Amino acid sequence: MRILYAASEAQPVAASGGLADVAGSLPKALVEEGHDARVVIPYYVNSMKQQWRDMLTYVTNFYVPVGWRSQYCGLFTAKINNVTYYFLDNEYYFRRDFGLYGYYDDAERYAFFSRAVLEMLKVIDFKPQIINSNDWQCALIPVYYSMFYKNDSKLWGIKNVFTIHNIQYQGRYGMELLQDVLGIPKHFAALMEYDKDVNFMKAAIEVSDKITTVSPTYAHEIFNPWFSHGLDRALKDKQYKTCGFLNGIDTDMYNPATDPAIAQNFTVTRKAGKKVCTQKLLEEVGLPAGEEPVLGMVSRLVEHKGFDLVKRVFDDIINLGYKVVILGSGESQYEQFFHEMRWKYPHRVAFTCGYVPDLAKKIYAGANMFLMPSKSEPCGLAQMIALRYGTIPIVRKTGGLADSIIDCGDEGGTGYTFQSYNAHDMLYAIQRAKDCYWNKTEWNKLVTRAMKADFSWKQSAKLYIGLYRELAGDSD
Ligand code: GLC
Repeated sequence: MRILYAASEAQPVAASGGLADVAGSLPKALVEEGHDARVVIPYYVNSMKQQWRDMLTYVTNFYVPVGWRSQYCGLFTAKINNVTYYFLDNEYYFRRDFGLYGYYDDAERYAFFSRAVLEMLKVIDFKPQIINSNDWQCALIPVYYSMFYKNDSKLWGIKNVFTIHNIQYQGRYGMELLQDVLGIPKHFAALMEYDKDVNFMKAAIEVSDKITTVSPTYAHEIFNPWFSHGLDRALKDKQYKTCGFLNGIDTDMYNPATDPAIAQNFTVTRKAGKKVCTQKLLEEVGLPAGEEPVLGMVSRLVEHKGFDLVKRVFDDIINLGYKVVILGSGESQYEQFFHEMRWKYPHRVAFTCGYVPDLAKKIYAGANMFLMPSKSEPCGLAQMIALRYGTIPIVRKTGGLADSIIDCGDEGGTGYTFQSYNAHDMLYAIQRAKDCYWNKTEWNKLVTRAMKADFSWKQSAKLYIGLYRELAGDSD
């Protein structure tokens, strides 16, 4: 199959979150299965390391309509992990100093990118059977396709899959953007409009051939107003074309046997290195050595990750005998709270404000338990990475957390779960984990099961291929 995977970020070149992991690892798995999957992302000149910039080869350039203007777009390519990547270059839109997103003109930047992806297909020698577009930044790809490209002789017959990684971020802007900035004629206003705004994601939901989400449970949850951030009304009649496949992780990138970022490598049969990782982690974050269980968290510090629950019972967690190591940044109320807790419990709490990829890996490898009490979690990758490093997840049963972690009360358990969004239910799960931790034989068995759990892309890549084939009517 020929697949173009369009995303606003992709590992290893440009990343701000889980989307980049998926865009870097799913196409790689598709290529390993023998398919021609290619990735297209913006060329973020300032956010990409020199190492990647040096690899790029210039292909061509073309012009892209953006409202009433016509904008330059350069096309570069590189082969990374055996996958062909395309980089769309326009320095006015993508040469920025403060990360990938969050600029006043994001709507225009990604409208440009989305249209440029389609214009690119007119000039390169690759016609995908499927374009898989991801999240609001790429939501206008299926939309523009349906408006302006479906009858183009070079693009005719392509099927559009739209993947929702997080329904909270929809690309919502004032209606005044419609013609001027997005270049969408007035007679399409009803398609673009939702609750009196332009809504990129809603329009993609309307026109795409299939909508996928990143776990089966989330594929149900988004029909429920508690999770949908208002979009359940747009999804209402779209069950027939919606499904959810659990993400995998890149098992080469996250491998305790070879990871150069951790203090000592280890495997499921030779776990001694994990103990070294724990003690080194404590040393690095300035906590005293010791046998107490270490509870790790690596997360954006935002409400939907469940931090109000953590705040509510934090003292109780410490009283259970835990050391807590936190890495993340986000809302100031949570940053301040963890600064305070570090001050209050200097021998028990370490907090690093920011995002440090190597420290993240040291926490995955060195902690004993990993806490993710999310209010909602479309898939979540950290719990899978934690398992791979023998760190036991404690999670709320929602979205991909419910689909990936089996509670230890059940056969083959790999973690501790709780259902209601309630601080004391979470605390009880944390307590059960601690009780097991001190029973060394049981804990060792649990860590073995965790490390053996398979979250590679093998299974899910097959599901995507099945879906692509069904849409393209391809039986190769
Ligand atoms: C988003 C979701 C997260 C998911 C990731 C990759 O970041 O919030 O749950 O794992 O996308 O699909």
